[in-house]
Amino acid sequence: MYRNFRIQHLHFMQVLSTCLLLSGVMVYWDTLNNAVTASYFFFGPSFRNDSFVVSPEEARKFSDHRYLINHVDKCLKSEDVFLLLFVKSSPKNFQRREGIRATWGNESYIKRELGVSVKVLFVLGVQDPGHDPKMLVQQQLKQEDQRHHDLIQQDFVDSFYNLTVKLLLQFNWMHDHCSQARFVISSDDDMFIHMPNLVRYLQEAGQQADGARELWVGRVFRNSGPVRWKTNKYYVSPEMYPWSSYPPYTGGAAYVLSRDVALRIREATLTLNATLHIDDVFMGICASVIGVTPKAHNFFSGERKTPYHPCVYKRMITSHGHEGDLRELWESATSPEVQTVDSGSLGLLYCSMTRTRLLCNPFNLNTYSCKIANIF
Ligand SMILES: *[C@@H]1O[C@H](CO)[C@@H](O)[C@H](O)[C@H]1NC(C)=O
Ligand SMILES: *[C@@H]1O[C@H](CO)[C@@H](O)[C@H](O)[C@H]1NC(C)=O
Ligand SMILES: *[C@@H]1O[C@H](CO)[C@@H](O)[C@H](O)[C@H]1NC(C)=O
Ligand SMILES: *[C@@H]1O[C@H](CO)[C@@H](O)[C@H](O)[C@H]1NC(C)=O
Repeated sequence: MYRNFRIQHLHFMQVLSTCLLLSGVMVYWDTLNNAVTASYFFFGPSFRNDSFVVSPEEARKFSDHRYLINHVDKCLKSEDVFLLLFVKSSPKNFQRREGIRATWGNESYIKRELGVSVKVLFVLGVQDPGHDPKMLVQQQLKQEDQRHHDLIQQDFVDSFYNLTVKLLLQFNWMHDHCSQARFVISSDDDMFIHMPNLVRYLQEAGQQADGARELWVGRVFRNSGPVRWKTNKYYVSPEMYPWSSYPPYTGGAAYVLSRDVALRIREATLTLNATLHIDDVFMGICASVIGVTPKAHNFFSGERKTPYHPCVYKRMITSHGHEGDLRELWESATSPEVQTVDSGSLGLLYCSMTRTRLLCNPFNLNTYSCKIANIF
């Protein structure tokens, strides 16, 4: 008995200390990781933002595409638009767009429940003609647009390697047709965005001393550098980007800009070489040219889904990798119970323990950081 107890006790202590060590490592990993890459960056040649400058004629070639579908009257000049919401979608993703319209991209819901005007547009290129020789997808898109009036499309091939072209499309469209929007958000079509929380956050940001200016917020990547393996999707050649580290940028899955930043970035693009196809990195380059740095927000998620739990929904803003589950998640994340789940000291304790369990779980990394489990 005694011996057995000793062994169990020892075992327990081992498990406990391993857990403590692991959580320590996890909390400091970011810092450590940044420090290591930063020192590498420090010793390498540093990024020069002026090396992307080209003549306006050269720059125009990157964005010189014809509109196939457009809605120039989406924002009326007299209208106070709070948020312009671009969803980067691919022609064939009909289901995803339906899901978004029925949930977080429902303009009339947002108007009624949150009292602000949001304009939702899906941004598309054309289906690769090799995969759609009879243009069936294009016909379906036209029908879809006749029902919903919310697609904008230009005649470039919709592909991963043309994402920067899509980025330019968004900035130019905003400048030409909705430059009064106070905020702009660019999102993927597999995202979940908690609109009530996002709108509240932006309203608070708008009340700060500097108003709704100089804002660029999302999941921030610092000191990440180009991938040099040719087989990797994110491969960037040294000719295209010779330095070892990118300027800071927000992950392209979802980020928000204030009006002034969006318009200045658009202006910067008028003289920049947009060959670099990784759109969020290119956006970082544009921002570095105008001297704007991104702000990290704890509730813009990484690559993974956020754990499904009311204790997380209360402050969540984005979550990545959603397709079939938008409706259920929207129902539960916006239900009134979420607002009271952490009330009282018992509620607080319960939620803080629950979040620690969910966010500090090594299988759930890359959603929200473990560091914030207790500081909701
Ligand atoms: C490069 O960035 C700096 C600061 O970030 C800025 O002041 C400068 O104007 C930029 N250079 C160019 C050519 O835009
Ligand atoms: C959007 O919300 C409105 C009001 O809440 C609702 O009547 C409508 O059915 C919703 N639209 C979709 C596509 O679900
Ligand atoms: C990007 O779009 C251009 C213009 O339509 C097209 O020529 C090119 O093939 C596209 N690139 C890819 C990788 O699809
Ligand atoms: C833009 O950059 C690419 C490589 O990154 C280069 O091949 C091309 O010549 C540049 N274009 C201009 C107009 O300088």
